[in-house]
Amino acid sequence: MSDDRNESGHPRVPIPPGLASALATAGRVFALTGAGVSAESGVPTFRDALTGLWARCDPLELATPSAFARQPKLVWDWYAARREALRDAAPNPGHRALVDIERRVPSFLLATQNVDGLHARAGSRSLVELHGNLARVRCSREGRVVDRWDEPVEGSTTPPRCPHCGAFLRPDVVWFEEALPAEALERADDAARHCDLMIVAGTSAEVYPAAELPRTARAAGARGVEVNPRGTPLTPMADFAIAVPAGLALPAFVAAAWPGHAAGPDGESPPSRAGGGAK
Ligand code: APR
Repeated sequence: MSDDRNESGHPRVPIPPGLASALATAGRVFALTGAGVSAESGVPTFRDALTGLWARCDPLELATPSAFARQPKLVWDWYAARREALRDAAPNPGHRALVDIERRVPSFLLATQNVDGLHARAGSRSLVELHGNLARVRCSREGRVVDRWDEPVEGSTTPPRCPHCGAFLRPDVVWFEEALPAEALERADDAARHCDLMIVAGTSAEVYPAAELPRTARAAGARGVEVNPRGTPLTPMADFAIAVPAGLALPAFVAAAWPGHAAGPDGESPPSRAGGGAK
């Protein structure tokens, strides 16, 4: 076994002193994730310099209500292509480590900015999707979620239409200039105000109101850990930082908090110590 591998053969990740016990003893843990957590599942981030979606596409042309009003088919097709690409993506060890944490702490909430559904697929249950979900489609006029739709046939110049009112269908995601789902934001804000430990993983923390949540938690007295290979505006105010990809960092964090119990990156989740109904 080399020095940069642990007993299970997984890469050794330095966990800052005091962090493991902060997780193991926390009563309430709140996690906020962003696109970086899905990077190791092959889902592109938004703001990474070469690989991020916004390095190749202009968000104002694709992710705003006015873009959809101007070019609905272009916007529909862009999201349809991302939805299609997700068929090949699977949750990674970072997603699964957050499930492990949910099962081990008395009270837990995960708020994600990701629309890829990978946290739910990994098994996260105490979960709010702040920016919606790419798998869902809704009516652009009445907001009603539609279960089935036909993709536009070749040569069509419009998105599919709502079977109830005939308006264009759109992805059920939050665009720039739009409000987040109120209930999701309220749950996240409440968790930020009442947590002992906040985990912020894989987000550039540039998009509000999600980026406000770690500040809210800090102002309320929580300790904070950031998991991100690069610095963000939050880095200077984090109590702990793990500057390692989330798929390595989060399983190592779990293993350090509960030595002898936590699974390796490919292993099973440990049994629960959390009581029911406290999520
Ligand atoms: N592990 C952890 N973090 C990573 C990894 C990884 N393997 N790979 C990249 N990152 C980090 C990057 O360093 C960056 O700080 O993830 C972050 C991704 O940032 P963004 O691309 O800005 O994604 P996010 O913060 O989720 O964006 C917020 O912006 O366009 C909108 O609606 C979109 O929800 C999205 C929101």
